[in-house]
Amino acid sequence: MMNDKGITVCTSIDLPLKPAEAFDAVVKDLTLALTRSGIHFETGSEGRIIQKTFEVGRIVAWEPGKRIAIEWRQASWEPDEVTEIEFLFKEIEGSTQVSIEHHHWGRQLGDASEIAGWFASEIAAPFLRATAPEALADWITDRMARRPSGTQSRAFYSDPLYHYPNFRVILSELALTPDDYLLEVGCGGGVLLKEALQSGCRAAGIDHSLDMVALAREVNRDAVSTGRLQIIEASADHLPFSDATFTCATMTGVIGFLDDPVIALKEIRRVLVKGGRLVALGSDPKLRGTWVIPKPMGPRLRFFEDDELGSFAHKAGFADVRVVQRNLESFARDAGVPEEHLSLFAEDTSFLLARNE
Ligand SMILES: C[S@@+](CC[C@H](N)C(=O)[O-])C[C@H]1O[C@@H](n2cnc3c(N)ncnc32)[C@H](O)[C@@H]1O
Repeated sequence: MMNDKGITVCTSIDLPLKPAEAFDAVVKDLTLALTRSGIHFETGSEGRIIQKTFEVGRIVAWEPGKRIAIEWRQASWEPDEVTEIEFLFKEIEGSTQVSIEHHHWGRQLGDASEIAGWFASEIAAPFLRATAPEALADWITDRMARRPSGTQSRAFYSDPLYHYPNFRVILSELALTPDDYLLEVGCGGGVLLKEALQSGCRAAGIDHSLDMVALAREVNRDAVSTGRLQIIEASADHLPFSDATFTCATMTGVIGFLDDPVIALKEIRRVLVKGGRLVALGSDPKLRGTWVIPKPMGPRLRFFEDDELGSFAHKAGFADVRVVQRNLESFARDAGVPEEHLSLFAEDTSFLLARNE
């Protein structure tokens, strides 16, 4: 109902979680998603919500497992216009109903037909888009691999059993020494970096997933605290390092997700010293359609034949470019991959090797 107090917009979901668990899960992903869209959400009873430099919201009640109330100022050009948002966590028969209600909304919009237009285009259409195949598949792909986040991905990338065989090949090709300074692009949970550091080298990892950056720092807590390793949130296209910083670089499970692999490879070459070496896992067309690449992810991952993989490195200016085939089965067995999944590693896998001239 619209009156001079505005209307209430609300939506809800029932989650088979305890209220405290639902509260933590929702707050964590809400904070991450808002950060990605340029809104800083500071949690806790004194929290503020800032967009650019404007304070959009102020938390007025923070009751973990129950309720969050936010005083909201949706119009920076009318800062006295205040509405109220409530998140409610209600236990109902072992589940938790999570709802978000925005009270007194719509006074800026005009008459009821304008509010209907706003609701249809800004709430209903994104709601349908989010639950239609393209956005859903994008979300699943991001969540699992392209920009991993959430409990399941954190658990997986803290011990990525099926990636250990790739790590072993990469480490053997890199042949690290204590004089090396290694960069990993798309470091995920930082487990390859942890293994690499055993050589005595220094290292840095970048990833565009905030969750993975946090995980990689946690997995390598000691090395990060002593300054042997830094983990930075960054994109492969803009590496936050000066020219000629690293003696070697690697990238595994990443190239197939890049919009333009040549741009990322050029960046990697820029930050490598003369003679610096690159070892990167390819994106093997043989994996297409296998259970390693779950269905919604398939069309979102690019696969490259060896020629194309090599041509990316040439175009990025690398020398001594080679694409080599390595068999991972024995590495997979050593890593503890279950017997019934070893066949996945039976065929050779492509790795790109190159050097910065
Ligand atoms: C499939 S995961 C592999 C993670 C890790 N390398 C491993 O093998 O376990 C791909 C990782 O690359 C990161 N990534 C993908 N595209 C990226 C980009 N353009 N810039 C930075 N990181 C990226 C993702 O966030 C994710 O952590």
